[in-house]
Amino acid sequence: MTYLVETDQLSKNYGDRAVVENLDLRVPAGSVYGFLGPNGSGKSTTMKMLLNLIQPSAGSINIMGQPMTRGTRRGLLGHIGSLIENPPGYSHLTGRENMAIVERLSDLSSLQIDRAIHAVKLEKQMDKKVKNYSLGMKQRLGIAMALAKEPSLLILDEPTNGLDPAGIDEIRGLLHDLSQAGVTVMVSSHLLGEIDKTATHLGILSNGRMIFQSSREELFASTIPNLLVRCSQPRKARELLAHSAGVQHSSEVQLTSTESGPAETVRISNMDDAGTAQAVATLVRQDIDVFDVRREEQNLEDLFRNLTHQGGL
Ligand SMILES: Nc1ncnc2c1ncn2[C@@H]1O[C@H](COP(=O)(O)OP(=O)(O)OP(=O)(O)O)[C@@H](O)[C@H]1O
Ligand SMILES: [Mg+2]
Repeated sequence: MTYLVETDQLSKNYGDRAVVENLDLRVPAGSVYGFLGPNGSGKSTTMKMLLNLIQPSAGSINIMGQPMTRGTRRGLLGHIGSLIENPPGYSHLTGRENMAIVERLSDLSSLQIDRAIHAVKLEKQMDKKVKNYSLGMKQRLGIAMALAKEPSLLILDEPTNGLDPAGIDEIRGLLHDLSQAGVTVMVSSHLLGEIDKTATHLGILSNGRMIFQSSREELFASTIPNLLVRCSQPRKARELLAHSAGVQHSSEVQLTSTESGPAETVRISNMDDAGTAQAVATLVRQDIDVFDVRREEQNLEDLFRNLTHQGGL
């Protein structure tokens, strides 16, 4: 696999505090890499090191297969577009005037500027002053500014911060389109749901350390989806299952209602196939009718909870 970003033991200390520790980032070419972690876990610090805005305390950075050094960094940064923290742009100028500044500063063509504006679907807002933009429009203008030079890699730090659900959806769609167009996107968030489904790869940071990094599929394959058991006497079933031999210490046995039926269902986390077989046998022995046994669809929140239960966060 080709990695567009590869770091080796990348670290940053402030005083004697390690803020980023021994990070081996692997961002595959063509991926949407979701860089997740709670507030203060070191996402922005890492992205700033990749962009040469702050110096690492230790470790190395490779971009597009080349080590980032004093000699190479200008050239490499030319291939990276970024949006870090607040959206850029002069608020007293219009979108078009802001883009004209980018055009001049980076020596771009008007075609490149038009393409970037088109990509973020901001054509109709270009004659408005940026101070009258919604936060979502400001974020999209920021992304257009980052995109105009047609970078191979786009680094976006919390582009969904402060957006309403519709705004978040738009950014998700945009990231998907950019990825289809061949741009590798590294995008951070402290909220799991915002990256769910868009990211092809995930890196999860906790206290400056990577606690998980792989493709989204591998993450989902590495954990057991919750088991849903629909049966007669669900309360009795819950009691029996909570004390059944097949249920692990780390499992939770709860009553829940599912959309598939009005009756309550027993939901069991972290139950493997052998445990499932035992659980069904236990219920049947106690004359409880088992109507339906299935696995719940997993989402990123559940996986994150599992990871953190395993001592991550
Ligand atoms: N210049 C600095 N001097 C000292 N400490 C810093 C500095 N910059 C960041 N930190 C600390 O480093 C830690 C990581 O910060 P960082 O901004 O990278 O986290 P983050 O994951 O981006 O968080 P958020 O989700 O809030 O944006 C925090 O505890 C922060 O207080
Ligand atoms: Mg941050």
